[in-house]
Amino acid sequence: MTVTVNFSGYEGPVTCGPEETLLRAGLRAGLALPYECASGGCGSCRAQLVDGEVKTLWPDAAGLSERDRRRGNRILMCQSVPTADCTVKAPILDGPTVSREAVPERVTSRLLGRVELTPDTALFTLDFRSPIDFLPGQFMLLESPDGVRRAYSMAHPADGAGSTTVEFIIRAKPGGAASSWLFDKVQVGDEILVEGPYGRAYAQPGSERPAVCIAGGTGLAPILAITEELLVENRGRRVDLYIGARMAGDIVLLDRLARLNELGARVAVSVEDPDFAGTEPAGWAVFDDSRVGRVIDHVADDWTDLSDHDIYLAGPAGMVDAALRALVRERGASADRLFFDRFIA
Ligand SMILES: Cc1cc2nc3c(=O)[nH]c(=O)nc-3n(C[C@H](O)[C@H](O)[C@H](O)COP(=O)(O)OP(=O)(O)OC[C@H]3O[C@@H](n4cnc5c(N)ncnc54)[C@H](O)[C@@H]3O)c2cc1C
Ligand code: FES
Repeated sequence: MTVTVNFSGYEGPVTCGPEETLLRAGLRAGLALPYECASGGCGSCRAQLVDGEVKTLWPDAAGLSERDRRRGNRILMCQSVPTADCTVKAPILDGPTVSREAVPERVTSRLLGRVELTPDTALFTLDFRSPIDFLPGQFMLLESPDGVRRAYSMAHPADGAGSTTVEFIIRAKPGGAASSWLFDKVQVGDEILVEGPYGRAYAQPGSERPAVCIAGGTGLAPILAITEELLVENRGRRVDLYIGARMAGDIVLLDRLARLNELGARVAVSVEDPDFAGTEPAGWAVFDDSRVGRVIDHVADDWTDLSDHDIYLAGPAGMVDAALRALVRERGASADRLFFDRFIA
């Protein structure tokens, strides 16, 4: 069923197709709607349902507080599919240019390959059959046949040469709904429904500022894409790449890190395992620095003032939140030059 949605404060009604969320319908119509995770966890797409009806994809979504629920008319645009014409009062985004972002589509892809990187992490390659457009650092929602939708970030920039394949670095969460599906059920050759691209923490074109790129765990995926883009766009630019992992064996895709090093990035790795000291695996000679401890502590050790830097950050939500606090409060990072994705898992 197609319905009409009025976003108050924005011009003109928007048509919303069957099974289409308010967020996707609004973005498709070119509205600068606020959002971050597109998967119900962060609350940044919160809006007010003034009239009409919506179906909620995730009724217990963490992005709505108890207070929001008590109010009765608060919704998450990324989790709400209209079932009748409606009016929505949504904040209007101020600042970032959204016109360069590709419109999120729902397309069927096929699993082309799944290569194990560590016992719980794999590189998934999906084939979309036609070239797919996205910005370096963006993510897609992968959807299982029974409706489990989760966000995964592309691990490289889009291929301007028209490649139809996209790679993701995915860690299996024990007992996780999407993890069980992606690691135990999906076979090479199977179809996978994908919605995207989404995300605003992408490589910012045209900036001359030095950049610090920080990845925790599978946050490596978008940070690989962003770092490559920054260096290819401006070969002389100073880019410091910090990779954090729990164990030395979790530092993966050494060939890609070596390539970024060749392109000009200074690459540092941080391993939390205290037994790691002095036991650097083969192939690590390519790194400019390797240390024991939390990646954010190493960034803080290396920099006393980051006020003139662009900072890109991706990884587990707790790590990203702690890093944001430390970088803004203690290292003078400028909030409008911080681009981050919290992997709410
Ligand atoms: C922007 C972004 C990018 C990400 N990129 C990556 C990546 O590149 N690689 C990677 O390994 N992981 C990534 N993640 C994490 C990933 O999306 C999953 O959370 C993770 O794989 C665990 O999912 P699961 O279903 O296996 O676990 P589950 O525990 O089943 O679900 C994980 C989380 O999803 C939420 N959730 C629960 N029920 C629902 C529901 N019905 N609908 C929607 N959400 C629900 C809850 O917060 C839950 O804790 C990213 C997350 C975000 C937000
Ligand atoms: S809850 Fe909708 S964008 Fe995060």
